[in-house]
Amino acid sequence: MRLVGIRYAAVGIHLFEFVPVDESLHLAPSTPGAHVDLHLPNGIVRQYSLLNPGASQRTIVLGIKRDEAGHGGSKYIFDSLKVSDVVKVGAPRNHFGLDMAAAHTVLIAGGIGITPIIAMKDWLDARGMSWGMHYACRSQSEMPFAETLAGDSRVHLHLDKETGHFLNIDAIVALASADTHFYCCGPGPMIDAFKAATASRPRENVHMEYFTARSAPKLGPGFTLELARSGRSIHVADGQTILDALNEAGVDVRYSCRGGVCGACETRVIDGIPEHHDSILTDEERAANETVMICCAGSRSQHLVLDL
Ligand code: FES
Repeated sequence: MRLVGIRYAAVGIHLFEFVPVDESLHLAPSTPGAHVDLHLPNGIVRQYSLLNPGASQRTIVLGIKRDEAGHGGSKYIFDSLKVSDVVKVGAPRNHFGLDMAAAHTVLIAGGIGITPIIAMKDWLDARGMSWGMHYACRSQSEMPFAETLAGDSRVHLHLDKETGHFLNIDAIVALASADTHFYCCGPGPMIDAFKAATASRPRENVHMEYFTARSAPKLGPGFTLELARSGRSIHVADGQTILDALNEAGVDVRYSCRGGVCGACETRVIDGIPEHHDSILTDEERAANETVMICCAGSRSQHLVLDL
């Protein structure tokens, strides 16, 4: 896709707009919470949430924060990508979908975690559904969309520096009715607070998305990995991820974030029980034992058979 516009949104956050190189092409439909892979010309692949998902949109808009402590993806985008450049963009994937039938929805965002949350807010609003939103940033200058959002009484904006404390997620959850669905996207400490605050709510009403990979998992003992399609057997060493073992054995598989947050490496389980360490699959999905994010998984059984 071609980059056709870069707009300032807040300190360190820009909006990047892409259109298909062949403008007669239709984009794949997407839903709120979806993200795409950006395959950058320097070889790095990064995932960003769509600000404008839809069934028939002509462009995609991504809100991207320059992450000085990151591994170079956002710095490359800010420093090297320019309007008119062409970048490969993957089809949208969604592991953070909205329950379209919820009686009431509470949306919670921290920092650049606003990008999927604002798409959800727009979707709910356009359909006249009941929602409330809490959005926290360190300061006003770092808060994209602050002016637009401030005019809506259903939106509560929170500035950590001004108030001297973090958003009180316990209080937000305590005030919500029993049938409320909760969504949270933000930094690790916010997600941890959200998980604790919603621990007593039905699991199917609680939805969250990490936007950064968590630290490398501590994996258990080695095991034998069988690849059902090719018939190969590979030894996965103690503490090694399935993806690392596959890479070492020269097996070509799809992956992107390597941190269990993007879903690119999701692989069907045929037999055995994986040791999951991703931030995507729910407890119910893990119990169903149908797929595994191989970039951060090991195995709880001595043999694991995957659809590879
Ligand atoms: S590569 Fe992103 S979840 Fe595995």
